[in-house]
Amino acid sequence: MYNVREISPNIYWVGGNDRRLEQFENLFPLANGVSYNSYLILDEKTALIDTVDDAITDQYLENITHLMNGRELDYLIINHMEPDHCGNIENIVKMYPNVKVVGNTKSFTLFHQFYNMDITANQMIVKEGDELSLGTHNLKFVFAPMVHWPEVMMNLETTKGILFAADAFGTFGALAGNLFDDEIDYANLYIDEARRYYSNIVGKFGAQVQSVFKKIAGQEINMICSLHGPIFRSDISLILDLYDKWSKYEAEKDGVVIFYGSMYGNTANTADALANKLAQRGVTDIRVYDVSKTHPSYIISDIFKYSHLVAAAPTYNMGLYYPMDNLLHEMAALGVKNRKVALIGNHSWASAALKIMTERFASMKNMEIIGDSLDIKSRLKDGEEQKLDDLADAIASSVLKK
Ligand SMILES: Cc1cc2nc3c(=O)[nH]c(=O)nc-3n(C[C@H](O)[C@H](O)[C@H](O)COP(=O)(O)O)c2cc1C
Ligand SMILES: [Fe+2]
Ligand SMILES: [Fe+2]
Repeated sequence: MYNVREISPNIYWVGGNDRRLEQFENLFPLANGVSYNSYLILDEKTALIDTVDDAITDQYLENITHLMNGRELDYLIINHMEPDHCGNIENIVKMYPNVKVVGNTKSFTLFHQFYNMDITANQMIVKEGDELSLGTHNLKFVFAPMVHWPEVMMNLETTKGILFAADAFGTFGALAGNLFDDEIDYANLYIDEARRYYSNIVGKFGAQVQSVFKKIAGQEINMICSLHGPIFRSDISLILDLYDKWSKYEAEKDGVVIFYGSMYGNTANTADALANKLAQRGVTDIRVYDVSKTHPSYIISDIFKYSHLVAAAPTYNMGLYYPMDNLLHEMAALGVKNRKVALIGNHSWASAALKIMTERFASMKNMEIIGDSLDIKSRLKDGEEQKLDDLADAIASSVLKK
């Protein structure tokens, strides 16, 4: 059965949910699925904004067929050429052979790399700032290169102030009937997943997000429609403010994320003892993660959220314990910066982990090492407690700004 909803007069949500997919991009766990949003405008002209992943093709085509009710589709706008939104371009062109497929030169290069169908005859190339009138509705093209692919565009519907934002402002997590931020407890149900989505997928491109903010500054925006997750219409500033912070790599909150690797439990013991000491010094919002246990995307998300980090790991074959090595690579690849960091290594005969971690953080921008880094020899003994107290003092005074 079709499953659609009018989100503004003559503008319809025609997307769907996938709750079966295990991992987004075969990389990020989806505890509660993901939505692929697509929007249909039925005006004097008809326009479909993006399509959906081929996992939900049947639902999608039913939605379109129902609403179109025999009408011709005039435009299919491709804001993002990633397959989770392009899985149905070929189907739509087959159903509506006269449709103008609207994209930029990069979109069509990518289309012809990914797909076999030749849509050269259908293509309509737009440039930054071009406008497309549909009758009462008017779409303005705002390019958003590298948020998070090179061809990405957004459309500002200028009569109502609706921003079709491609992947930006999206989240993991399927929709549950309620489409709008005011119909759900967005803060509790989606923010953590929106942050995990942003930090892991868009995180590297903070500068490009800031460029888009400059382009849309001063424009009236009353609604934001992302390609994943809820539509914002009541508290738009909530997500805009978060994106502003995240894209500047500013912490949302003072707090400490302690992430450790440990084979025999000794580094884990030190991490827990440090967390306890920080709590006793008045530090709140402490998170502790075992890098071998928790998927890195969750740890990355909290690294974007909080101000202070503690990395603790043993030496492994004269290198760094692999899961920590991997996490620090991801942090560097995502361009994480502007954090205060404390370090703890562990080794039994020849130390390497602490040195490698120190170098890794030095290679990231504005990562300030605080306190004296600790290098444990196998197990921190009660007689060495002062060293941990000193580190806890340094971290606590920095967090509490004493
Ligand atoms: C496969 C393997 C390789 C290791 N390589 C080194 C090494 O190159 N240098 C070293 O000092 N310790 C090495 N270790 C020892 C651990 O780093 C050390 O025992 C540490 O205290 C373990 O901390 P944990 O109790 O938190 O797991 C290695 C251990 C394993 C299992
Ligand atoms: Fe994408
Ligand atoms: Fe996407």
